[in-house]
Amino acid sequence: MENPANAQALAEAARMFAVPCTFRDSRGLGEQLPSLSTVDTAALLGGPGPLVAVDNTPGAESVYRAGPLHVGASIVVGNERRGIRPDVLRGAAKTVQIPMPGRSVNTLNVATAAAVALYYLLDANGRRQARAPRPESHRPAILLAAPRDHVEAGSSLRSAAAFGWQTVTVDDREKVWFGTPRPVRNEARAAARSHRNPLRVVPAGDAWSPPHGSRVVVCAPDVDGPALHRTELTGTGTVLVIPDGDGWEPPSDAEFARVAVPGEPGRYRLLSGIVLAEAARQLGTRTSAALRPPRRGLSYGSMLGQTALPDTDLVQPWELTQY
Ligand SMILES: C[S@@+](CC[C@H](N)C(=O)[O-])C[C@H]1O[C@@H](n2cnc3c(N)ncnc32)[C@H](O)[C@@H]1O
Repeated sequence: MENPANAQALAEAARMFAVPCTFRDSRGLGEQLPSLSTVDTAALLGGPGPLVAVDNTPGAESVYRAGPLHVGASIVVGNERRGIRPDVLRGAAKTVQIPMPGRSVNTLNVATAAAVALYYLLDANGRRQARAPRPESHRPAILLAAPRDHVEAGSSLRSAAAFGWQTVTVDDREKVWFGTPRPVRNEARAAARSHRNPLRVVPAGDAWSPPHGSRVVVCAPDVDGPALHRTELTGTGTVLVIPDGDGWEPPSDAEFARVAVPGEPGRYRLLSGIVLAEAARQLGTRTSAALRPPRRGLSYGSMLGQTALPDTDLVQPWELTQY
């Protein structure tokens, strides 16, 4: 890895799951983070247990279907731009990927990917079954509630796009996303008009209330409720709320899903990544058209929700990969 902020986020992902974390440092990370624990390639490949590569390489097994890690196993994640080195990929016992149904962004932030992989490879027993047919008609709405840092908010939006959301609502009471001066971003955006499938980011407004008849599920580490992967997170009219900390007041009829981790609660991008991954897992992947029985007449796969277009922030896919 080459970005010290990502290295710190990765170390935090490991602490979330109470596992040690070490870096193969060929890019001078250690100079900026002197407390970094390092490993060389030989030690990485010659560890005591199997090495599982986490990367979305062709043919990699879905992390949702991979069995739990063996005792003594390690997982490895890769460089922000180049992924895992080919020799490390070849030396790994297997490679698992986090399926990315998004049309525009096809990778997660590296620390988010590690947290999602650890969530499924270490536990998440008793998972709900995936829905599979017509997943789009069951995709829940997402509310990012009061994110406290713009990088964490941006990284969460990147995950949402990668997991297939096209619209996300943000309660931006901490003023980290809308109206913040982002001159570089705006300049670059102007130069990239050709990019397709932007993410619509809709402000929740001061007095957000769930749409009439909706079911609100608040997903957080410290709530009283069933485990995230045992809670129904999908369905028309479902709104998944991902609060950053405990400053966000849920509606009185909200349900709660607990994001249980064995270690410390991690930063917002890690929490939102796990919630979005689990919702995407429960949605399942669209049945291939060839396998579906022919339909009569016209049909549609999902309903269009109305959004307050004038206020909507359109974020281009390439911008999201900066997070
Ligand atoms: C941003 S990605 C690297 C980008 C990648 N080379 C590309 O452009 O396709 C950084 C690392 O995050 C992890 N990662 C990101 N998205 C992933 C996914 N969907 N499945 C598994 N690992 C992922 C992998 O370890 C990857 O090497």
